[in-house]
Order: sequence, then structure tokens, then C-alpha cells
Amino acid sequence: MCGIVALIGSREAAPQLLDGLRQLEYRGYDSAGIATVEGGRLHCLKAEGKLVNLSARYEQHGAPGQCGIGHTRWATHGKPEERNAHPHLDGSGELAVVQNGIIENHRTLRESLQAEGVTFLSDTDTEVIPHLIALELKARSDAGEAASANLLLAAVQAVLPQLHGAYALAVVWARCPGALVVARHQAPLLIGLGEGEFLCASDTPALAGFTRTILPMEDGEVALLTPLGIELYDSAGQRVQRTPTLLTGTEHVADKRSFRHFMLKEIHEQPETAALWVARHLPEGALVALPLDESVYTGVERIQILACGTSRHAAQVGAYLLEQLAGIPTSVFYASEFRYAPPPLTPHMLTIGVTQSGETADTLAALAMEQERRQSLEDPAYAPRLLGITNRPESSLGRLVGHLLDIGAGIEVGVAATKTFLGQLLAFYGLALAFAERRQGQDGPGASSGRSIAELQALASQLRQLPGLLQALVHDHDQRCAELAHLFADTQDVIFLGRGINYPIAMEGALKLKEISYIHAEGYPAGEMKHGPIALLDARVPVVSIAVPGTVFDKVLSNAQEAKARDAQLIGVAPACPDTTLFDVLLPLPETDELLSPLLTVIPMQLLSYHIAAHRGLDVDQPRNLAKSVTVE
Ligand code: M6R
Repeated sequence: MCGIVALIGSREAAPQLLDGLRQLEYRGYDSAGIATVEGGRLHCLKAEGKLVNLSARYEQHGAPGQCGIGHTRWATHGKPEERNAHPHLDGSGELAVVQNGIIENHRTLRESLQAEGVTFLSDTDTEVIPHLIALELKARSDAGEAASANLLLAAVQAVLPQLHGAYALAVVWARCPGALVVARHQAPLLIGLGEGEFLCASDTPALAGFTRTILPMEDGEVALLTPLGIELYDSAGQRVQRTPTLLTGTEHVADKRSFRHFMLKEIHEQPETAALWVARHLPEGALVALPLDESVYTGVERIQILACGTSRHAAQVGAYLLEQLAGIPTSVFYASEFRYAPPPLTPHMLTIGVTQSGETADTLAALAMEQERRQSLEDPAYAPRLLGITNRPESSLGRLVGHLLDIGAGIEVGVAATKTFLGQLLAFYGLALAFAERRQGQDGPGASSGRSIAELQALASQLRQLPGLLQALVHDHDQRCAELAHLFADTQDVIFLGRGINYPIAMEGALKLKEISYIHAEGYPAGEMKHGPIALLDARVPVVSIAVPGTVFDKVLSNAQEAKARDAQLIGVAPACPDTTLFDVLLPLPETDELLSPLLTVIPMQLLSYHIAAHRGLDVDQPRNLAKSVTVE
């Protein structure tokens, strides 16, 4: 995923572009660049690495002009080197383009451009775009058209149908400093309306400090921006009129407060995330109140959940709850796999897409495919019924699905998902309770699992206590995990074990550790260790064992014993345990219902990973090779 910004107005563009890029840096940070136009010239600056390198170049060289574009990159095609950084220019150096997405047919386009004598300077897919637009401009100029904003618009509109893939892009042209053209196709792009100026960006944080009035672009749309206004066109070239919307709340502004990293701040925000969720959806006197239409629930016989990464781990906990509390057969798929090997269609299916960003290309593509294949059957029993669970209701997911559950966790900047994971878990608790309530007394497929209303109510009232439990847990474990981190100074491999509802939490613990500390880690179902992976264990491999009283407690403790017998250092995430000598280190948990335990066991996972990475001096918020959401397949 990359971030793009573009500005046109009456003040120097470069400082605002850099500011916008700073807010979008979480989307990609291996190189950055800007291009502004003034005096019939394009002023382009690029730098490898973080944005500070580009800012230093700007301080040194400047980039004059009141119109410009900027980009912060997460490499897809071509190494993270300066020559592959955006903006990319045409052969004359007069036209510049930034793009977020992937041009899937770039090889074919590159070959035909090369056959016409075009020289490429980068390995990127994007570079075909400025060359194609330049050829179009030349053909039109040769036919007598003068340089103008409309000419630039027409050239871009002529080129877009040649591009296959998902993209958002912005174009400036030195011969027309008063025009900026932007386009969106399956990658996010929003226009912010300032006073006599317009700022476009991939995401709201870049806009929030500039304006609260925004116009999210729809797929296929192209906009011509001048200091005087916006002209919006659909993919057929027809003019579109749409009323801007208002960004509300402070959640669009990224602020680290006094924390060392965004990730730590976001871990500490989880009691608040839970409190907001409880206040909104678990009112006293009702079991659960979700803002969903009854048609989400009616007649559902099966559920399938599509997600990636951490969101998929939340989905796995969700599937456990939906099956155990509501008795609905539920499957979880890697969204990236689903599209290419979808299961046979079955009737009365609810499809849930889970994505905190709402922009993950794999998840969106899988959902869109499911929607299409169900629609094509024209059979009401197979009709698509799509529910999205997200932290960004204004995202592409929000526009794709018929029903949406907003987890309301506020903006999350750290690349490692923490509070949004908790929000996703809470959404599934709410959903499972809502289904279970509606299924009371039903027989046959999809019948209630037998949990009485009183049992469901007991769970709901324990959920209402969650914010207080989390507050204490985050506070205590922050200190404990900070003290433990030095034990992992030379560690190369860690195994996380869990069973039942805590198996996904073991996987989440391993994913967190891998992505921010670069330590190899595996999350494994504790009972499976003896079937192979136990061979990995020795005194150099710490094992984190999640052991919660309930259906599998004794089994997990035996599995932990097996690891200890192989000299592994054992870290227990457990309430006080009968065998007090079992764990070398205990990260204690309060007593809770096993079904609710993932909401607690995940906290030590997050804090342990955070402190190990911070102790190693790593860039916790922007780990290498990653981006906050991945908008390419
Ligand atoms: O925005 P999404 O929830 O769809 O993102 C899915 C994954 O890319 C994401 O969870 C990723 O695994 C995180 N970096 C995990 O911390």
C-alpha cells in the first residue's frame, strides 16, 4: 500500500504535501517523493527511505509552485530505491504521476511503449502511465489542441481504459500549472475541500488537519481540480454532481500523546475501546444491541468469514463463538486464497468480511467475487448477504457490502494491529450473542446450541466488566513485559501455544512478534506439538503457553509440561496455576469465563511483542517491509 496526496490552491504546495505524506507514512515508508509545477517547469524531489530524507531534500532544494503531488511508497514492483520512488515522469520531464495500486498489464504496455522508442528509468508498473498520457497529449497537440486543463483531463480519460488493475492516481503537467487530475479505480481517494484550495489523499488523516469537508471518490471517477473548483466525471465521461460530506470526531487525527510509540498508545487505549463498545452495544436491560438490519440474521444457516492477518485471527475467535454460542456452522478463509478456490455455493449463507482498514485488496476482491457469483444465480436462497466488520465505515468495504458493523476503535497508526483486533473480537461477541438470542428454541440446522438466555445474559454482564479488567491488565503487564524483554535479547525462535478459543490468540501472539521484532515465531495448537514441531524445542526456544481454566486447561498444562521436559523456557499466560513450578515466568490473568478469555489473553501477547521489539531498538510503528493495509493483491 502507498499513500498519495495532491494539492492545488494559492499557497506553496510542498509544505502541505509533506505534511499530508507524514500523516500517510503508515501506508508505506520505503521511499517518498513530490513534484510541483511552476514557471512552466516540473520540480521533482525523491528520496529513498523514510519521509525525513525527503524533507531534508526539500529544505536543501525547495520545490516551488501552488500545485503538486506527493507519494509515500510501499514497494510492489521494483526495489525500494530512489529511481523507483514516485512521482514518475514522462520522457520530456514535464508530466508527473503518482499512483497507489497495481497496473496489472504494465508489462504489455511497457513493451509496446518501448517498441515506440520510449525509455524507462524505473522498474515500476506506474511509469507506463506518464508515458501513455504524454503520447496522448502529443497526438492531441499535433492535431492542433492547445495546452489546457481540459486537454490534460481528456488525455488522462483516454489512457485510463488501457490500465488494468486497482489504482488511485494524480497527475500534474508543467504546461498547465493550474490543473490537477486525479482518478480512482478500486483504491481509495478522497478530495478535501479547503478555501480556494483542494487536497486529495488516500486517507483521512492527511485531510483532517486541512479541512473537514470531504468528497470521497467512487470507482471509475476522474476529477479535474483547479483553484476555482472540482469537475467530477464517471467512467463514461459524464459529469457527476455529489454533495461533500463532513469528517466528524477527532479520531482522524494521529497523535502519539506521551507514549514512545503509537503501538504502545494504542495498546493502552483498549480499555477505552472496550468501554465505548459496551456503552454502545451492551446496554443494561437488553442482551445486545447492534445497529444491524434484521435481514442480516433471518434464516441464516451457515456463515463464512473472509479476512487476512490479524483480522483473520479475530475471525477465528468469531467462528468459535458463532458455533459454540449460536450453533451456526462457520468457516474462516484466508481472503487471498478464497477467490481462487471458493467452496461450492450453499444456500442461506451470511458472508462476513473483516478488515480494520476496509481497504485490504485481498478481502475486497474475495467479497466482490462472492457477491458476483451469488448474484449470477438469481436464486433468492443463494442471494448474497454481505456483512463488513471494519474500523473505517467510509472505506471501500463500506461501499461494497450491504451491511456494516463499525468497531469504532478510532484511528490506529501502528502497523501492528492491536486495538482494532480487540474491536473486531468485540464485534464477534456482539454478533454471536445476537444470533444466539434469535435462535433460542429453534430446531434443525442453525438451531441454538442450547445456551439459555440466562447464560447469555451472564456472558453479557461479564462483558460489561471488561473495560475495568483491561485497565488493570494493561497497566500490570506493561511493566512486567518491559522487565521480561531482556530475556529475549538473543532469541531467534519463539513458539506460542494455545488451544480451543485461545489457539487464534497464540497465532496472533506469533504474528505480532514476527512483524515488529523480526523474531521467527509460530502459533500452534498446543495438542499438535507432539506431532512434529516439538522437535524444534530446546533451551534456546522460549514457549509461551496460554492456559485458561475450562474445557482444555489440563490438556494445555500437560502440553506445557511436554515442552518443559525438552528444556524450553516456559512463559505462562494463565491465572494462578495448580502446579506453581510449571512456568518459569507467569503473566497472570484474572479469573474469567473461558469464552471471554481471548479478550484478556491477547494483552500480554501484544505487550510482550512490543517490549521485545522496543528493547531491540526497532521501529515498532513502521516495521520493515510492511504497510498498515495492503491495497494490492
Ligand atoms: O486492514 P486489514 O485488517 O484488512 O489488514 C489485514 C492484515 O494486513 C493486517 O491484519 C496485518 O496482518 C497487520 N499488520 C497485523 O498486525
